[in-house]
Amino acid sequence: MSTNIKHSQNVLKFDAKENNMTQKMNYNNQQKSNNKLKVGGLFAGIGGIELGFKKAGFKILWANEIDKNAAITYKMNHKHKLFEKDLKDLQTEEVEKIDILTGGFPCQAFSLAGYRKGFNDDRGNVFFEILRFVDDLEPKVLFLENVKNLKGHDNGKTFEIVINELESRAYHLNYKVLNSSQYANVPQNRERIYIVGFKDKKVYDNFKFPKSKKLTKTINDLLDDEADEKFYYHKSKYYAQLKEEMLNNDTIYQWRRTYVRENKSKLCPTLTANMGTGGHNVPLIIDKKDIRKLTPRECARFQGYDDSFILSNTLAPSHLYKQIGNSVTVPVIEAIAKEIKKALNV
Ligand SMILES: C[S@@+](CC[C@H](N)C(=O)[O-])C[C@H]1O[C@@H](n2cnc3c(N)ncnc32)[C@H](O)[C@@H]1O
Repeated sequence: MSTNIKHSQNVLKFDAKENNMTQKMNYNNQQKSNNKLKVGGLFAGIGGIELGFKKAGFKILWANEIDKNAAITYKMNHKHKLFEKDLKDLQTEEVEKIDILTGGFPCQAFSLAGYRKGFNDDRGNVFFEILRFVDDLEPKVLFLENVKNLKGHDNGKTFEIVINELESRAYHLNYKVLNSSQYANVPQNRERIYIVGFKDKKVYDNFKFPKSKKLTKTINDLLDDEADEKFYYHKSKYYAQLKEEMLNNDTIYQWRRTYVRENKSKLCPTLTANMGTGGHNVPLIIDKKDIRKLTPRECARFQGYDDSFILSNTLAPSHLYKQIGNSVTVPVIEAIAKEIKKALNV
């Protein structure tokens, strides 16, 4: 046999071997992806909960969101199917079966800052839509997020209904209020209640909420030196008042319609959905140049989103502020999702 033929046979053999290996790797990756627990997300917003679960190794199959602008951000950042409609119009037959159902259901109805109407408020009633999905899809795990005040709302009656409804469907529930500043190494003071429910009592017994984490990041770690002109306040009619009242450049202030509040904890105050509108809850700082509000990008960082998360400049800043204020602190979700994974032993 000539050396050339021998050589090409060896190359062929090598190619076949490599092909086999690639096929095996693809197959293994496919298997790994098939073995991943599947998640469906309700009230998805811009997908902070979905992102946290994805980072923890879950596979997101689909999500639902009614708001067109939130859906724009969602679709720019996630590849899975987004059903863009009112949850009331989404049939459970339309979605794929999942192992985990998540939902940070609208909190205004329960929030102290909202109308205190609870289940009588239409936005509170969407909780019953979640139950329809629980009944029809029977997920192994439920993950719900809400404002801390869900527990105290209406002398605890609202929370009692939430718990009773889920327990009557044979879920074993665990819940806890976590502050983002203590569980995510993110300097935002944000207390939220997280409810985790398991069908299997053994998995429930295995589950523990994550341990607290040391906060090493400071406000200044997440701020840009300066920002676009439109974020500055020198043309505001309140500028003189702000100049007088805002003196520290290592803290975040909050503009409350007519006065400014200094945050003494060295944390970013809770970012809210209305922070971009009407002079309410607007987070303000003094930077190198002057007094300005936080940019949407900086707010996203205070929710633990890294800068690869796309915030479209086709959307007005007011929409972006609302979306980020409505969202979750992603690393808190990731930490809880990892504990869920441990409990499920996958
Ligand atoms: C508190 S936010 C959840 C944000 C989300 N966890 C995130 O990370 O961005 C609640 C979301 O529910 C959506 N929503 C409210 N009512 C809805 C309904 N009936 N059907 C579908 N989505 C709804 C709102 O548009 C909002 O984006």
